[in-house]
Amino acid sequence: MTVRINPSILSADFANFESELQRVRSADLIHVDVMDNHFVPNLTFGLPMVQRLQQVTPKPLDVHLMIDDPERWAPGYAEAGAYSVTFHAEATGDSVGLARTLRGLGARAGIALKPGTAVDDYLEIITEFDQVLVMTVEPGFGGQSFIESTMPKLVALREAVSASGLDIWLQVDGGISEKTIGIAAEAGADTFVAGSSVFHAENPAAQISTLRDLASAHSHAH
Ligand code: DX5
Ligand code: ZN
Repeated sequence: MTVRINPSILSADFANFESELQRVRSADLIHVDVMDNHFVPNLTFGLPMVQRLQQVTPKPLDVHLMIDDPERWAPGYAEAGAYSVTFHAEATGDSVGLARTLRGLGARAGIALKPGTAVDDYLEIITEFDQVLVMTVEPGFGGQSFIESTMPKLVALREAVSASGLDIWLQVDGGISEKTIGIAAEAGADTFVAGSSVFHAENPAAQISTLRDLASAHSHAH
C-alpha cells in the first residue's frame, strides 16, 4: 500500500511559506488548513493565499476546508488548481453533490469526519469520494493529542475501500507523530497529515522519512 506523508503548513512559519515549503520537498502533498472562525474557533487563510501557494509549491496541495458553506467556497480551490479538496461532512447537506462538482473541476474530492461523526452513512457512498479524512483531533488547532477512539472508523473504511477496488485514500489528521502513526496505519490509514511533528522537528526531511518508514512497517501490505 502506498503511504503518503502530507505536512500541514499550519505549523510552518507563516512569514516564510516559500522557504518552509522547500524544507518539506520530500513530502507527498502539502496539507493546507483553511479555517473560517465559524465552523471551527480559529481563523487561518482563504482562497487568495492558496492561489499564491499554488504558484510556488513544489508539491500538489491537499486543501482541508474547515469552513461553513463549502458549496460556496470549495469549487474555487479546485479552480485554483488544488490537487485535492476536502470539505467537512458536518458542514453540508449534500456531500455527494459537492464531491461531484469538485471532481468535475478536476480535483480529487475528499470528505472529512470530526471525531464525533459516525462513519456508517458514508460507507455506502464511499465511491463518490477520492479521499475520506478521519479527524484524529477536534479540528481547529495544531499540536493536540491523537484520539485513538477514532480508529474503528478507519477499520470500517478500509474494508469498504477494499471492497470497492478503487483508489480511495484514507487520511488521518491530528496528533500524528512517530508515537501514533503506526496505530493509524494498522487501522487502515494510508495518508498521514503531520503538522507540528514535521515543522517543529530540527530536520523535517528526516522526520518525514521516519514517519514514512513507520507507516509502511505497520501498513496493511505487511
Ligand atoms: C487541525 C488541522 C490539522 C493540524 C494538525 O484542525 O486540521 O491539519 O495542522 O496538526 P498536528 O499534526 O500538530 O496535530
Ligand atoms: Zn487539516
